[in-house]
Amino acid sequence: MDYYGEKIRLRAIEREDLPRYVAWFADAAVSENLASQMPMSLAQEERWYEENLKQPIEQQALAVDLRTGRGKWEHIGGTGFHLVDKRNRLAECGVFIGPRKHWNKGLGRDILLTLLRYGFETLNLNRVQLRVMAFNERAIRLYEKTGFVREGSMREAHFHQGRYWDMHFYAILRREWEARYVAPKE
Ligand SMILES: CC(C)(COP(=O)(O)OP(=O)(O)OC[C@H]1O[C@@H](n2cnc3c(N)ncnc32)[C@H](O)[C@@H]1OP(=O)(O)O)[C@@H](O)C(=O)NCCC(=O)NCCS
Repeated sequence: MDYYGEKIRLRAIEREDLPRYVAWFADAAVSENLASQMPMSLAQEERWYEENLKQPIEQQALAVDLRTGRGKWEHIGGTGFHLVDKRNRLAECGVFIGPRKHWNKGLGRDILLTLLRYGFETLNLNRVQLRVMAFNERAIRLYEKTGFVREGSMREAHFHQGRYWDMHFYAILRREWEARYVAPKE
């Protein structure tokens, strides 16, 4: 099933989505914040798509659609969990919005809150964690305003534009998410 936020929905990725990923990852402003900064071809995206399908269903990447009208949706990015650790009920998450015109409108928060609801209520996670490069101030603001707590940093773990940057670790626990977003039962 799909998961709906205020203006977005999360759904499974289709093969037809792949050319959009190629276009988005060609934009350095998007890719410099993500794990791979290498040029990406459609063939490489297709290989990634096939590998994604082999992952356990809860670790498969999700497409993000933006509602543009009644029953109308535009694919604008991706999110999802990887490294789902079932014994410890934790997972790492990631998020990106491809077209820059959709940044800074609160959609990142909408996506993360929808993903967290899926993670805590459906996958029964206890902890959701992520990593972010120290130069990515927009993402850091997003994570902090959504309730993620900085737990530490790996010093000089990432080389970018001629210098080393710290990599920060953030996480939100289920009880922290509940205290903030789930109304107490009557
Ligand atoms: C990171 C990303 C998902 C955020 O999505 P978004 O829709 O822009 O996020 P939101 O609008 O919900 O929140 C962004 C916040 O950062 C703030 N912001 C923007 N630029 C900023 C900057 N240079 N420094 C500090 N804060 C900044 C915005 O004002 C907003 O805060 P506010 O709601 O208090 O005003 C999106 O920008 C993106 O896809 N970036 C490229 C990929 C990426 O970085 N992914 C994350 C990898 S860890």
